[in-house]
Amino acid sequence: MLPSFSSPVRSKWSSQFAFILVSAGAAIGLGNIWKFPYILGSRGGGTFLVLHLVFITLIALPVLLAELLMGRRGHQNIVTSIQLLSSETNASPRWQGIGWLCSITLILILSFYSVVAGWALAYLTYSWHGDLTGLSPLAIENVWQGFLANPVAMLFWHSIFILMVMGVVAKGIHQGIEKASKILIPVLFMILIMLLGYATGTGHFLEGIQYLFDIQLEKITPQTIVAAMGHAFFTLSIGAGSLLVYSSYSSKSFSLGEVAVSVVLMDFLASTLTAVSIFPILFSHGLKPETGPGLTFEILPIAFSTMEGGAFLGGLFFLLSVCAAWTSAISLAEPLVALLSERYKVKRIKATLFIGFLAWLLGILSILSFNLWKSFKIFGKWTLFVSISDFSSNILLPIGGLLIAIFTGWILHRRITREELAFQNESTYKAWRFLIRWVSPLGILIILLYPVYLFIRGYF
Ligand code: TRP
Repeated sequence: MLPSFSSPVRSKWSSQFAFILVSAGAAIGLGNIWKFPYILGSRGGGTFLVLHLVFITLIALPVLLAELLMGRRGHQNIVTSIQLLSSETNASPRWQGIGWLCSITLILILSFYSVVAGWALAYLTYSWHGDLTGLSPLAIENVWQGFLANPVAMLFWHSIFILMVMGVVAKGIHQGIEKASKILIPVLFMILIMLLGYATGTGHFLEGIQYLFDIQLEKITPQTIVAAMGHAFFTLSIGAGSLLVYSSYSSKSFSLGEVAVSVVLMDFLASTLTAVSIFPILFSHGLKPETGPGLTFEILPIAFSTMEGGAFLGGLFFLLSVCAAWTSAISLAEPLVALLSERYKVKRIKATLFIGFLAWLLGILSILSFNLWKSFKIFGKWTLFVSISDFSSNILLPIGGLLIAIFTGWILHRRITREELAFQNESTYKAWRFLIRWVSPLGILIILLYPVYLFIRGYF
């Protein structure tokens, strides 16, 4: 039986601007503050930036538009939306499987994301207590290693973060998500501007800018290309239905094109502002951004510990990370809560408790993989944290994106996509359709198959 189109009390965002803010909240997260600077640092600065821009425009933006149009047309949780769209277009109901796949991706990402957000919460309190002030680089390293070795501390902060997310999601669309984003996103940009102000005074600001725009063609390696494509998905929150569900709360009068472009620009702004603020601070302490995932927790605190006002500035930086992570984690949880509450008629509060508990439980696997289960490695190679985060971000997300691209580009009637996107200009629609049918799927296939190729090559 098909569920009916209209559910009586479905909330809506209060305006297009509110929809842009919540979507920017979903997009701007640890991907911008934690991942972007270290990927950029380890993958050749400006070279990565250019690739990032190319993939955002050619691959990610079309899929982002596809999610927005599916959500608004389906006007339901992710599974039911795709079910309704399939029936409207006389396609097999099996396509709703995309919704289930996305749900698995969401819960996996939420589980490890909350653990990392917990680190930021812990470092926020350490910074503001002055616990990191005046320490030698070695002592900072010890704080970090000690923290990772302590499952109880990690569990504590992971639990607090999950509670913060549940607190907002339980309150629903208006009182919860929209209200939180209206506070957190402006705070986030204000902090970014303050950090930028500080960075310009370090005397190394130009060096930071130069690093960002230093383009060296020989640095374009297959690994950098794959990393840039994968990151384009993660940073824009696409491939798992977060924005599809947010869009299901939008009005017919909103322009999806305007929303998509605004979200991409805000996300890009957040990433580049973070990088141009952090790099000069690192350079002024003789530190390098090429160190990988430990950049924000191991290296940056070294700079904060010795500089004047470092406790405050460090606190500000971790506050930025927490604000960003919070709205993103909300967008990971909301589609799952909507699924339970709409499809299975579970009350929102109960659905939120259940999803929060599940993510909390799964998160424990990630936590233990840094200490008690450190030596347990899947295929003798990847810890549980690395397995869960890489599998969900590098495999499940692109598969989700690929299926979404195929569904909107090849299965949905052209009439439906044209009506929903409602571009003023037919050539914009044609460009989108070309990208979603050919460029995005092929690009995604490359991201997906490259690791397989490496694996096979390494194997034989
Ligand atoms: N985009 C967020 C970040 O950059 C993370 C995120 C939120 C996400 N919702 C998502 C990633 C859905 C993939 C899919 O931190």
